[in-house]
Amino acid sequence: ELGTYTHFMEKEIFEQPAALENTMRGRFSEDGSTAQFGGLNISAVDLRQVDRIHFLACGSAWHSCLVTEHLIEHFARVPVEVDYASEFRYRNMPLGNNTLFFTVSQSGETIDTLAALREAKRKGYKVLAVSNVVGSTIAREADGGVYQHVGPEIGVASTKAFTSQILLGAMLGLYLGRMRDMSFSDGVEIVKALKGAPDLVRRTLEQAPHIKAIAQRYAHFHDFLFLGRLSLFPVALEGALKLKEISYIHAEGYPAAEMKHGPIALISEKCPSVFFVSSGEMFHKVISSMQEIKARKGPIIAIATEACELPEGLADEVIRIPECHEAVLPVVATVPVQLLSYYIADALKRDVDKPRNLAKSVTVE
Ligand code: M6R
Repeated sequence: ELGTYTHFMEKEIFEQPAALENTMRGRFSEDGSTAQFGGLNISAVDLRQVDRIHFLACGSAWHSCLVTEHLIEHFARVPVEVDYASEFRYRNMPLGNNTLFFTVSQSGETIDTLAALREAKRKGYKVLAVSNVVGSTIAREADGGVYQHVGPEIGVASTKAFTSQILLGAMLGLYLGRMRDMSFSDGVEIVKALKGAPDLVRRTLEQAPHIKAIAQRYAHFHDFLFLGRLSLFPVALEGALKLKEISYIHAEGYPAAEMKHGPIALISEKCPSVFFVSSGEMFHKVISSMQEIKARKGPIIAIATEACELPEGLADEVIRIPECHEAVLPVVATVPVQLLSYYIADALKRDVDKPRNLAKSVTVE
């Protein structure tokens, strides 16, 4: 089953172009201006009444919801809440009337996510599910939902399931946006961008040898920070989780500007920072955060889109990713941190597919 790959995680990272194609297959309207979903089980009229969407998930799936929050709010202007399923089930928060719930779970068996789904249903809400496993408990108990169709994910560290969840988040944002204020031509542009995602991921995967070489130089560090802004902040959280779960290196993710509120105290030549840099409104702000790190001798690995002109000598390492539409940027930016974590863990001879203390799906509370 592994073919030419050494680990399932590696195989699943490289499978992403095909996995993303499968997530999108048959899910765009004929006029190419919006997404369509067969199993939502909710009429357009009812969906139009929804004035808040509440996402519930754990781990990487929770990170995917944070990206989705950004995309849905941006494209559809519908307010989104994201909760850890384990917290939501006990919080008993006040909820609005026209709230729609989504649970997101690759396995569809995570006990906290299932309990949160049951709690939302008990309160009389409609709950939809995003899941990869057909017929899983969460998929069966939800009122409707969307399957990811990325095939089995064997590695404990989520990779292709995560990027597929973000892609679905963008597609949901597009779908809800086109029911509201998004124009036909803006819809067409987003559909085109989404269809281009597999190819952008393929191009990013070509960086693997370069990222492997960086990983080998950085595998001996004990602490890492991952820093990004807007939709790339949750990707930073995901990068930190990937690194810690498979390599056992301490890592934290932050919005880049939060550094000066505490975490910058960690910076020294012994603590590298992985920065996400994209062209656009946040470019100069991210550069100035990088300068603050550099001034404190922190090594910097920049994951930067092609058009970003980084000041000479600012980053110690640069990993280039293609310029892309905001709908697919978080998907593309995830790939280098998956590879970086994978190659660091492999360099340290960790049990990449079955890291200590972890199970693929957490079915106990
Ligand atoms: O199957 P689920 O998506 O519900 O799993 C949720 C988390 O347990 C999972 O994403 C976990 O955080 C992964 N090990 C992350 O790589």
